[in-house]
Amino acid sequence: MRVFKGEVTALPPDKSISHRAALIGALSEGTTEITNFSGGFDNQSTLGVLKDAGIILRQEDVDGGYGRRIRRVVIESGGLWSFLPPSAPLMCNNSGSTMRMFAGILAAQPFASELIGDSSLMKRPMKRVADPLRQMGADVELSLAGTAPIRIKGTKELKPIEYRLPVPSAQVKSLVAFAALHADGESRIIESVRSRDHTEVMLGLESIEHEGERVIVVPGRKAVAAKPFYIPADPSAACFIVALGLLARGSEIIIRDVCLNPTRAAFLDILTDAGAGLTIENQRVIGGEMIGDILVQNHAGLEPLMILDPQVVAYIIDEIPMLAVLSAFASGRFELHNAAELRTKESDRIDALVVNLQRLGFDCEQYPDGFMVKGRRITPSGTVVIDSFDDHRIAMSFAIASKATGCPLDITDIDVVGVSFPNFFALLESLEA
Ligand code: S3P
Repeated sequence: MRVFKGEVTALPPDKSISHRAALIGALSEGTTEITNFSGGFDNQSTLGVLKDAGIILRQEDVDGGYGRRIRRVVIESGGLWSFLPPSAPLMCNNSGSTMRMFAGILAAQPFASELIGDSSLMKRPMKRVADPLRQMGADVELSLAGTAPIRIKGTKELKPIEYRLPVPSAQVKSLVAFAALHADGESRIIESVRSRDHTEVMLGLESIEHEGERVIVVPGRKAVAAKPFYIPADPSAACFIVALGLLARGSEIIIRDVCLNPTRAAFLDILTDAGAGLTIENQRVIGGEMIGDILVQNHAGLEPLMILDPQVVAYIIDEIPMLAVLSAFASGRFELHNAAELRTKESDRIDALVVNLQRLGFDCEQYPDGFMVKGRRITPSGTVVIDSFDDHRIAMSFAIASKATGCPLDITDIDVVGVSFPNFFALLESLEA
């Protein structure tokens, strides 16, 4: 067992908010300054497609306090219809958020465009993108399997929509909202299970509670005025550092300036309820988002995690890989249901977790919408090969377990961590006491 101690001031800026800040900047009239934009590959893909669609932007390194450099992005745009026909298919690489959310904007532009990605993204479901955009009047073509390439013939005459989300997806909610900003009238987006709400917060959209559902109101053809954005640290990245501290007894780590939006930070409550030593300090609101420091103090064990509630699942969807590996290593057990969406991520994360936990000697049972870890039969003696399935969160979840417990793992395609956390290994090293 190793011990990890220190202060984390260089966590990646939030991936979800970075994507949205860039897209909203491109939709806004004027100059948008984004402070602390993420250098992760996914967010760089969003900047790449915006440039390829004619948006003028630049990135620069500036002083970010704590003795570190951070990235500033400046976007100049004339507003909702400032995009130009791209000369080639728009490459989104591994980023589902880029592809899905930008599709909503392209549907409203009066030209044809095509969105493509890497081999993982080309397998992910896109019917959820095409359905609402077709209802609004755009011409959207997918492969026979319902995947990318997404070929869009956009129109300036999009119709408003009342859309009940068929899956709890903030990407789909956002792409409908971005399209609806261009429509000829007011749209309503209805969610029965809530997903992360950054788009609503950043655009200042009204949302109403109605009979247990949430209705988001999007005004049509209303100019968006440029405003500055500050990106707090990514709670989904913080989760890996929290797990590191909770797996290695005696550790004490403070993680600064993390986004604590309640639609993102539920994993902290789940861990606290399971006995984790977590304290939130220095809470404040910046740009409509709750931000604070997370203090991790490991003085006790962790109860097994059992995650069943669909609303909780939606709030922690990106943290489940780390929570599952943490719970398996800390208590030998873990149980998850109502999480079929996990099969549609950068990999089939239910299968990826089960396959790898079994290689580590855990007894697992898999269901269509989840899985259970029932205990550890054996502890393998030599190095175990872990298949990352080219998925950043799978790679990082097992890398944390290896680092904290000392079990030797050989993780395939480990560079994939750069999708969301380019300084992952450097940061872990800096915390080794
Ligand atoms: C995201 C929403 C979630 C999440 C993804 C980022 C977002 O996906 O898994 O990593 O920024 O809106 P879904 O919208 O598919 O649930």
